[in-house]
Amino acid sequence: MKSQQKCIVIFALVCCFAILLALIFSAVDLWGDEDGITEENCNRNCRVVLVENIPEDISFLDNGTAHVPLSVGLHNLLNLATRSVEIVSPQWALNTSDYESSFLPSARQGRALLYKLLGLKAKKVNLKIASGMIESAELKSLDRHSADVHYVNMTTLTRGQLRSSFWVVDRKHMYIGSGSMDWRSLATRKELGIIIYDCSCLALDLHRVFNLYWQLQYKEFIPSIWSKRLYALYNKDEKLSLLLNNTKAEIYVSTSPEVLCPKDRTRDLEAISRVIQEARKFIYISITDYLPLINTNPQRYWSRIDGMVREALILRNVRVRLLVSCWEQTHPLTFNFVWSLKTLCMQQTNCSLEVKFFSPSQQWDGTVRGINHNRFMVTDKAVYIGNLDWVGNEFAFNGGAGMVINQEEGMEQKNLTIVDQIRATFDRDWYSQYTRTLQSNKIPVCNKHQINRLAPLKAIQIPTDNGMAFLGASQSMESSGSRKSSNGSL
Ligand SMILES: *[C@@H]1O[C@H](CO)[C@@H](O)[C@H](O)[C@H]1NC(C)=O
Ligand SMILES: *[C@@H]1O[C@H](CO)[C@@H](O)[C@H](O)[C@H]1NC(C)=O
Ligand SMILES: *[C@@H]1O[C@H](CO)[C@@H](O)[C@H](O)[C@H]1NC(C)=O
Ligand SMILES: *[C@@H]1O[C@H](CO)[C@@H](O)[C@H](O)[C@H]1NC(C)=O
Ligand SMILES: *[C@@H]1O[C@H](CO)[C@@H](O)[C@H](O)[C@H]1NC(C)=O
Ligand SMILES: *[C@@H]1O[C@H](CO)[C@@H](O)[C@H](O)[C@H]1NC(C)=O
Repeated sequence: MKSQQKCIVIFALVCCFAILLALIFSAVDLWGDEDGITEENCNRNCRVVLVENIPEDISFLDNGTAHVPLSVGLHNLLNLATRSVEIVSPQWALNTSDYESSFLPSARQGRALLYKLLGLKAKKVNLKIASGMIESAELKSLDRHSADVHYVNMTTLTRGQLRSSFWVVDRKHMYIGSGSMDWRSLATRKELGIIIYDCSCLALDLHRVFNLYWQLQYKEFIPSIWSKRLYALYNKDEKLSLLLNNTKAEIYVSTSPEVLCPKDRTRDLEAISRVIQEARKFIYISITDYLPLINTNPQRYWSRIDGMVREALILRNVRVRLLVSCWEQTHPLTFNFVWSLKTLCMQQTNCSLEVKFFSPSQQWDGTVRGINHNRFMVTDKAVYIGNLDWVGNEFAFNGGAGMVINQEEGMEQKNLTIVDQIRATFDRDWYSQYTRTLQSNKIPVCNKHQINRLAPLKAIQIPTDNGMAFLGASQSMESSGSRKSSNGSL
């Protein structure tokens, strides 16, 4: 009798333990919020549109590459939204002042978008925002009126900033690109991004990146174990195969920094490295800042991307074109580093590196407009669109996201693929009147700091500057978000 009871007790205990274990491992999944969309039933027949913001002062003669304006694309996404809009943006500065819109009509775009976001509540659409901007008045206002805002203290978590810039709408549509929720992105900066429609497979994965930020609200430590619901669905080794406008493509999302990459998620640097390594003919890079330095104390040389480019040039004879912005906060050492890349090809047949600087038009009052804020790379095989500048600090500390689309060139059909379109966009910029070729022993004048150093006696009209342009292009971009228009960051 005794032993029988013992047996029953032990059996009950074992059962309890098993149930407990099962609960622990599935707990995260029990209260899932993915709307019944799973990897099995999600949609892979998607449409893609290239969106750009071309500032008014810039006009390209080539009209063959006119794309949907970024503001139109974003409004369109909001029109489609029926349930949820999830946004992560490095900046929130859509509400232009009357002063700004009085002399720049396009600046009103920002306010229009802001009011559209505020109007989502009336449509019963749930607006969720993840942001690293703890003190933003605009976010507080959105929080009060129509949005759920979660703040991520990146200073404590990674000693960096949250630079990711993407949207997920109804877990179906998405936007990713250089433009953020800053009126300048809709008016005075040159931006490039993509919008993908009806693509729940990919949206599901990007939504997981958003959810990761969402869960970091006010956390002071990065969790040592991530929930299974945050693991990547696709990555550089297991890409998502889908149709983009009826053309086959392979795609995946990457993120930064490493500490914010849960299991299976490809890091941005790995994605960039993979795209560079797989290129066979050419690599075209359009980037705001290129600086292989990490601005820690002491400053260090950061060779990751620089080294990959050197390898592609000298060992694989891939043609490289680098289009860097020349603007008030261009770090002076940029020229030395790109020049050293260029000399690598000296007297080497089939080694070709070309560098050009995109310099925006300067206004009569010395302010600079039309900064090329693009962050993409296109090769004969793929395109990478990211949120981060190619500066050491960015990849080490800042939160960012990127997307790789593999689509071979020269497919038989005559419709241009998204990769073709982005290459055409690069060519348009490259051959435009706004670029200058890198010349030996001559550093182009991009900012006050250099003008002061190189031509101290000349009275030249110069962009006014906050004088902090020395190091950390990454920080400088952040500060530009809060700067007023009067100091020249237009
Ligand atoms: C480009 O513009 C010219 C003149 O405005 C026009 O004739 C031509 O059809 C346009 N080309 C394209 C591809 O839109
Ligand atoms: C936008 O700014 C104007 C004043 O410039 C202010 O009256 C308005 O309340 C602001 N809107 C929001 C949503 O913050
Ligand atoms: C963010 O973290 C920093 C560093 O730990 C801390 O000083 C600051 O108060 C935090 N900010 C908020 C709003 O929690
Ligand atoms: C350079 O490229 C051409 C054409 O692709 C090839 O025929 C030639 O062998 C290459 N030269 C060297 C030194 O690799
Ligand atoms: C090419 O584009 C046209 C017009 O947008 C469309 O009707 C056609 O289906 C496309 N063809 C392919 C192969 O994608
Ligand atoms: C895909 O199709 C849409 C319309 O269906 C079109 O607007 C867009 O330009 C196409 N994208 C590409 C890359 O051809």
